[in-house]
Amino acid sequence: MNIEYPARERLANLPTPLQPLKRISENFSAPYGGPKIWIKRDDLTESAMSGNKLRKLEFIIAEAQARGCNTLITCGGEQSNHCRATALAAAKCGLKAHLILRQGADAHDDDAVPDGNLLVDYLAGAEVSRYPLREYLEDLPGLFEYWAQEYEKQGDRALCIPTGGSDGLGIWGYILGAEELLEDCRREGFTPDRLICASGSGGTQAGLTLGAQLFEPGVQVTGYAVCDDAAYFVNKVSEDAEDWARRYRQSHRLDPARIDVIDDYIGPGYAIATEEIYQTIALAAQLEGILLDPVYTGKAFHGMLQDIKAGRYTDCENLVFVHTGGQFGVFPQRTGFRSSWASAEKGC
Ligand SMILES: Cc1ncc(COP(=O)(O)O)c(C=O)c1O
Repeated sequence: MNIEYPARERLANLPTPLQPLKRISENFSAPYGGPKIWIKRDDLTESAMSGNKLRKLEFIIAEAQARGCNTLITCGGEQSNHCRATALAAAKCGLKAHLILRQGADAHDDDAVPDGNLLVDYLAGAEVSRYPLREYLEDLPGLFEYWAQEYEKQGDRALCIPTGGSDGLGIWGYILGAEELLEDCRREGFTPDRLICASGSGGTQAGLTLGAQLFEPGVQVTGYAVCDDAAYFVNKVSEDAEDWARRYRQSHRLDPARIDVIDDYIGPGYAIATEEIYQTIALAAQLEGILLDPVYTGKAFHGMLQDIKAGRYTDCENLVFVHTGGQFGVFPQRTGFRSSWASAEKGC
């Protein structure tokens, strides 16, 4: 299918590599009759700007430029990967960035000293406004409006980007991402049975699902929820797809029955990981040299391995896990990895 994409500011190093996870497949899938596991390395979209958000930002920034905006306002948790990528991408494009940050569960350890993504936000020169959880949740639209007006008063023009860059505009990033990934698979000589990603604000899953339906309808997409439940994500993915169809006059509709979300591995809550998650992250690092994160990819990857073990994917031959980045989120949660460093210590 030929899709006409809107304007795009090139920021990501694409295509990202598609790699087999040989040792993990041999040890944690084959014994259960599970599929060969591949990984799409979207953690390599860029270095500092790494991760899935950069694909969305390519379209979002082009839209901001077309509308004559010189400022990007967006929001997220203090350790938001999306905010960090937005701050850096804005800097690269000569735009201002203003981040509305939610203080909460992902403000681990001593948040008086900025760490991880938040530290990079400051380094990138973003303006940062941090709000207590309740105020943020009660009036996020009001906060966007307030800051957009403040910029307008100064003669600036701001584009407001929703949580995670997930809406009808941002999901272009993963429609294109799905097209790229399916081409990678073709080059490797297979058609994937299933694509798997972490779902936080839903846009990655929305783009991948739409992309799969457009370019290879037999391919199923599964999102592992890291915050809200499956019903929430089915609704959110549908909304983003409808927004996309409306804004870009697309006749294609996403069949809600094809939106597959697993919400069994959220654990105690958003950005709160358990020992099992920390251990899965260590396992992926030790067997494959890949760094997952405790908020998104670690939970999704852990869920996928548990589900392979439970026989959920025995009908699949090839499954692709989309590594959506998040490495900066490892460091603020360093204490969770205690068992890894304790076992590595050797006396001299
Ligand atoms: C590293 C990482 N992976 C996955 C996700 C989920 O993507 P989405 O927000 O598009 O659902 C996010 C952001 O929420 C993220 O930062």
